[in-house]
Amino acid sequence: MTNLEGKVAFITGVARGQGRAHAVKLASLGADIIGVDICADIDSMDYPNATREDLDETVRLVEKEGQRMVGRVADVRDQGALADAFGVGQAEFGRLDIVIANAGIVRLTDSDDRRSVWRDIVDTNLTGTWNTIEVALPALRENGSGGSIVITSSSAGLKGTATDNAGAQAYTASKRGLVGLMQSLANQYASEWIRVNTIHPTGVATGMTMNAAMETLFAAAAAGETTGLSTMQNLLPIEILQPEDIANAVAWLVSDEARFVTGIALPLDAGFSIR
Ligand SMILES: NC(=O)c1ccc[n+]([C@@H]2O[C@H](COP(=O)([O-])OP(=O)(O)OC[C@H]3O[C@@H](n4cnc5c(N)ncnc54)[C@H](O)[C@@H]3O)[C@@H](O)[C@H]2O)c1
Repeated sequence: MTNLEGKVAFITGVARGQGRAHAVKLASLGADIIGVDICADIDSMDYPNATREDLDETVRLVEKEGQRMVGRVADVRDQGALADAFGVGQAEFGRLDIVIANAGIVRLTDSDDRRSVWRDIVDTNLTGTWNTIEVALPALRENGSGGSIVITSSSAGLKGTATDNAGAQAYTASKRGLVGLMQSLANQYASEWIRVNTIHPTGVATGMTMNAAMETLFAAAAAGETTGLSTMQNLLPIEILQPEDIANAVAWLVSDEARFVTGIALPLDAGFSIR
């Protein structure tokens, strides 16, 4: 049985969806949580981000598991704000073992402002992940017994599909960029027992997929139109995964049971990537 007692995890995008599922799962295994979320919308997106109430609910759910959580509002694009938020958690818990760089955005409907869509997605998904690791790595190195960094990429980070949609292009490019970052860091820090891996989920039922903008695309795809979703089908007969499916896999990846696993791009995708 995986045991994370005494460990501390730093999770971005923690207010809902996969980030919340990671926080609750790791807490159920004994970890304390430092979590951040933007809790505000980004103008170029076509669906809402999480709210402060969502973040408070994550804190409540972690506490229900008997663990502590420092939850703060911070934008991963702002390294200073991220460092401040992480610092509060460090002051509280005094160590760090696990980083889950999970915050991310997408836009699959068209936009007249392609540049803003590209910039905001790359800034959040790629630069935001670098900021997250940059802020947390010193604490991870200090603990002296290694640690685990999990970077949330996507099935899009393994396989680019045909699209003229600026958001989908930015999403694929940013998520593929994370694989390069993961490989560099895995090579750099292996001697310190710091493991770095990417995960590549297929569609997951979260705020990113269950929203009005996505419903429009689903309806168009069902009517036979080519949309950003047309090429997104799993091999196994399962339409969409649940956040807990991803959290269960991550719980293993950050645990000592996976102590030999580093530098991998792990598909969690019902066969999507070989389809
Ligand atoms: N849902 C899917 O189908 C799917 C599939 C593959 C990968 N992913 C990836 O999984 C990760 C988690 O997404 P999710 O599915 O839980 O969606 P979600 O939209 O429910 O969660 C993303 C969270 O990140 C937060 N966030 C957004 N921008 C931020 C920023 N700049 N700074 C801090 N927080 C920010 C949001 O408020 C939200 O709480 C993302 O990286 C996403 O790209 C999602």
